[in-house]
Amino acid sequence: MSADLPAARRRGVQYGPGPDALRREAAEFLRLFHHEHPAGGGPAALASRIAAVHAEIDATGTYRHTAAELAHGARVAWRNSNRCIGRLYWHSLRVRDRRDVRDADTMAAEAVAHLREATNGGRIRPVITVFAPDAPNRRGPRIWNEQLVRYAGYSAPGGIGRTGDPRNAGITAYAQRLGWPGGPGTHFDVLPLVIQGSDDKPRWFELPADAVLEVPLAHPDGGWVDDLGLRWHAVPAIANMCLEIGGICYPAAPFNGWYMGTEIGARDLGDRDRYDLLPAVGERLGLDMSSDRTLWKDRALIELNRMVLHSFDRAGVTLADHHTESQRFLTHLAREEAKGRRVGADWSWIVPPVSGCATPVFHRTFDPVQLKPAFVHHPEALLRARGEESAGH
Ligand code: ARG
Repeated sequence: MSADLPAARRRGVQYGPGPDALRREAAEFLRLFHHEHPAGGGPAALASRIAAVHAEIDATGTYRHTAAELAHGARVAWRNSNRCIGRLYWHSLRVRDRRDVRDADTMAAEAVAHLREATNGGRIRPVITVFAPDAPNRRGPRIWNEQLVRYAGYSAPGGIGRTGDPRNAGITAYAQRLGWPGGPGTHFDVLPLVIQGSDDKPRWFELPADAVLEVPLAHPDGGWVDDLGLRWHAVPAIANMCLEIGGICYPAAPFNGWYMGTEIGARDLGDRDRYDLLPAVGERLGLDMSSDRTLWKDRALIELNRMVLHSFDRAGVTLADHHTESQRFLTHLAREEAKGRRVGADWSWIVPPVSGCATPVFHRTFDPVQLKPAFVHHPEALLRARGEESAGH
């Protein structure tokens, strides 16, 4: 599908929904905005705003959100993120409106400013930076990294042995093809940003070290993991999902919340196709690893998660635990329901990857509806993250 995009571009085909769908989606979003937001005004204001937007679409093929519409749309896209357990604070999202920015150099500088504002010395703040949207005959810019901060993954020549995070092997190789010389070759080399301005080729930008807060990982019971030299970055900032509001797609709109411990302690460090640390931890703990039935993997997982919580606490960096965050999510559901709003949620993502049944979110079901505005994955971004270059851009 994405392989067709260059051809589509040569033919001058438009990006995003056609004019009819755009008119419909715009009106739907404006109704939501006017219903929920104090700046929305009454029925007359709504009718005149819809008429103005429809006229703008007829004249230009697209329309421009007001600053208040953009901010509310971005917050509601978070509220509608069915996989996110951390939505209780959706309204606190800080929205950096950078819709006039579409060149890679300024985007790189803005991404760094975003990280500094979000990191806030360890008291992590949820932030989104919104760059230029797709327009009918002009694509918006892109950030091809999955997150603003990710660790490189290198495979050794001949394919034997790996260094770093295998999940990012594709974007690592891609950055190297673009001329990135590679990092020092540790398991935790911070990747450069790979940014493509609207009318440009992708280029790479090293992040300044002082913009990337990292937490050295140590176990509360002593130094038995210290020789592994583990660390993790403080801010999870998704960079390759499109923010879709009222039929307008903002393809570069990096956003972050704070981490929940299990994301790092169970998945990033524990998954077989990630850092795969359960065997190393089992050995260091002296566990009986002769059979799965000794539950050595389960015990290693718990110790990795204790390590993550302890280390972030010690460093003074915001990190939720899965018990607290599960409770907060139920509070969020109750609040939204009291406001008469539906909440979509994906059980398989909401339930934490360790100790699921010890949290209240396990013991119920959720409404799978996907509401809009929303953050969506576009296929070419997923291809790029895997290092495939057939992306049509
Ligand atoms: N699970 C991803 C990671 O481990 C981060 C996804 C976003 N997480 C968040 N807490 N906002 O890097």
